[in-house]
Amino acid sequence: MTDGTRVPIAKAKGRPMLQWVGKRPLREVRSFPAQPVERFGGPAAPEGAVAADVDWSGWPDRFDRGGLLFHGDNKEVLAHLLANGFRGKVDLVYIDPPFDSGADYVRKVQLRGASGSVRLDGESHTLGEQIQYTDIWANDTYLQFMYERLLLIKELMAPTATVWLHCDWNRSHYLRLLLDEVMGADAKRNEVVWQRTSARSDASTLSQIHDTLFFYSKTGVFEWNPLFEAHGAEYVAEKYTHDDGDGRRYQLVDMTSPNPRPNMMYEWLGHASPAKGWRYSIATMQRLHDAGRIWYPKDKTKRPRLKHYLDEVEGRPLQSVWTDIFPVNSQADERLGFPTQKPEALLDRIIRASSNPGDIVLDCFIGSGTTAAVAQTLGRRWIGADINKGAIQTTEKRLAAIIEDQARAASSEQLAMESSEATRPAQLGFSVLRVNDYDLQIQHNEAVNLAVEHLGADRTKTDAFFQGTLGRELLYIVGFNHPCSPLDLQAVAHELEQRPDEQRDVVVVALGRELACEPWLADYNRVRPINKIRLVELRTDPKYGKFFEHRPASARVRFEADGDVVRVVIDDFISPSIVERLSAQEGVLTPQITDWRAMVDSVFIDAAYDGEVFTVAEADIPERRQDLVSGTYDVARPAGSDRPVAVRITDMLGEEILVVEERGGA
Ligand SMILES: C[S@@+](CC[C@H](N)C(=O)[O-])C[C@H]1O[C@@H](n2cnc3c(N)ncnc32)[C@H](O)[C@@H]1O
Repeated sequence: MTDGTRVPIAKAKGRPMLQWVGKRPLREVRSFPAQPVERFGGPAAPEGAVAADVDWSGWPDRFDRGGLLFHGDNKEVLAHLLANGFRGKVDLVYIDPPFDSGADYVRKVQLRGASGSVRLDGESHTLGEQIQYTDIWANDTYLQFMYERLLLIKELMAPTATVWLHCDWNRSHYLRLLLDEVMGADAKRNEVVWQRTSARSDASTLSQIHDTLFFYSKTGVFEWNPLFEAHGAEYVAEKYTHDDGDGRRYQLVDMTSPNPRPNMMYEWLGHASPAKGWRYSIATMQRLHDAGRIWYPKDKTKRPRLKHYLDEVEGRPLQSVWTDIFPVNSQADERLGFPTQKPEALLDRIIRASSNPGDIVLDCFIGSGTTAAVAQTLGRRWIGADINKGAIQTTEKRLAAIIEDQARAASSEQLAMESSEATRPAQLGFSVLRVNDYDLQIQHNEAVNLAVEHLGADRTKTDAFFQGTLGRELLYIVGFNHPCSPLDLQAVAHELEQRPDEQRDVVVVALGRELACEPWLADYNRVRPINKIRLVELRTDPKYGKFFEHRPASARVRFEADGDVVRVVIDDFISPSIVERLSAQEGVLTPQITDWRAMVDSVFIDAAYDGEVFTVAEADIPERRQDLVSGTYDVARPAGSDRPVAVRITDMLGEEILVVEERGGA
């Protein structure tokens, strides 16, 4: 059973160490199950469209073969991957975490519209704390956040894997120390400076025009495919001064041996042997001569030289400063409107250098999906994760388009024949999964707060296991997404075993209980003078009264057909979860939701819904937080279609509802 499975995590390597307030090791994490959300399998592709030599034997059975895209906090996603067969399996990790202090690295949900300052916190920080704490708090939280993710990433890496961390001058010094500590200082392989823009005028001193990429390997033996870049025009003009007459440029290279080589001392076509001998044997010399690769001076006292053609050199080995990759600007074809989108050329270079076709590439801050897109194009397998629903939707759309193109190209026989094995995709499909149901998790945090308040308990935030105390008892709140089972009680008993000095009893609070809890508790408590466990069931315990229950979101939608055009009008939308969360935070701020659209993240419309697969005909996802969805849409029904129009509304907590047009007789 994976629900709440404890996943052990190895200690950091250790030196040097960075300290921050609240630094704590991550000895283990809990893994929660993943819920499949969607499966994308591109159009049927002919045999041979997918690379035949990808070794899927180590791929955990519980996952479909193909790309994996996880919606959720990457701490939980990485824990899930570790607990479910991916430990030591990932060949390359690229991450581009958010760097802004106060940025979106803790779960937070903002409502749309002018009242956008209303923020719902998903993590254990209340709205009050969020406002009250300063940058210093943000800094320490950020460091702990990154430390934990890096520890988890390291566990997933294969022995020959590398991790690339993309950052900027704001955080690079901290992150480098974190990497040294987690991976080991001897694991660093390089630091790349990427000049991402040529000119800016927004700095008070020097304009920041570069990002930094740190590159570490798990062990001393790691995947590396040398990279080359074309020689600059100046170099070519200076070195390749000769021309064959047919446009092929070459330079003349010395053929004498730098070291004494007595067996290479011979006269060649009237040219005396150099003092230390030739560089090549007579047989090689003859082959070069026959191929016209040797240039002979008329003067026999001078030495023949080798012709080195420009079009035969790979360029010069790539250096650590990259100035030839341009940012995704407003005109770029690949631009998806994602503010921190990185160019595909950058990922192309990293993925080619540090992995091979068929390898598994992981990016747990996937954003607009650049890493997955390039990995898919280069025939790698990939795993992506993001906490942001918009990022998941953008990545889904982007990968679906690439896979459709790849499948279509393979269908055209000509192309299938031409495409070499190396460029064939590793897969033509991917799954979208949700880890530790985001909504339920949010509700759990909310529930913990409400339960604590409801019971009159004291909250303890320094204890990683118990949420607080109720009188003289320790308080443990069971996840509200399931009734309390003996497994939950065993977890409490296990925790108590780890604390031999603990004298207190425990009160376990849950929404519902399995019948098996009673005998378990009776048995457990019978032999225990201290550390007794009792169970309070909130819904039924009259002492604590009524407790909130989850009610799904609902919407009032009108479909007005006029010929082939259907006007879709959303009159109202209500998310009880959001309303409840807001009232739970009352006292800090008393926000009013005057417009239902503040609660809505996006609206999608399918003009002819087949009842199974939602095909997006119209998408309304305002880019800026202060903008609202429109709420009224005119959609054209495809000619001859008798299928209904359907609307999918996603709220700011990521919860979705689907409203389907009722058609008489359809
Ligand atoms: C700088 S962006 C990545 C951009 C990406 N490289 C691209 O090319 O589009 C960082 C991403 O990390 C995501 N993120 C932040 N905190 C996260 C968390 N705890 N778990 C998963 N994703 C997170 C954000 O939602 C955001 O999409």
